[in-house]
Amino acid sequence: MAFQKVCTLDDVWEGEINEVRVQEHVIVLVGLEGGDVRAFQGKCPHQDIPLCEGSFDGQVLMCRAHQWTFDARSGKGINPGDCQLAPYPVKLDGDDVLVDVEGIQPLFAHA
Ligand code: FES
Repeated sequence: MAFQKVCTLDDVWEGEINEVRVQEHVIVLVGLEGGDVRAFQGKCPHQDIPLCEGSFDGQVLMCRAHQWTFDARSGKGINPGDCQLAPYPVKLDGDDVLVDVEGIQPLFAHA
């Protein structure tokens, strides 16, 4: 496990999404309702659209292209339900947000 700092909590407020890059990984950070932070693959599993361009209400992340929606706690697809965002482990160190990218690969879904 090799956690590295990607931003601070100021960059991912509750109800906000933000994109960061670590090595070749494009990652979307989401500030969950209640203050937790999650990190997922940054490109939509449908057609590679950046998820940071979508919308987020603190619970559900929606891709702007075809309105696929994802549970921002787990990354599981809501509509359609047979897809999943690859989650990255996240750790907080004070105000710093750290992510571990080791061994994580983006997932893809049916077209
Ligand atoms: S590219 Fe995201 S829903 Fe189609």
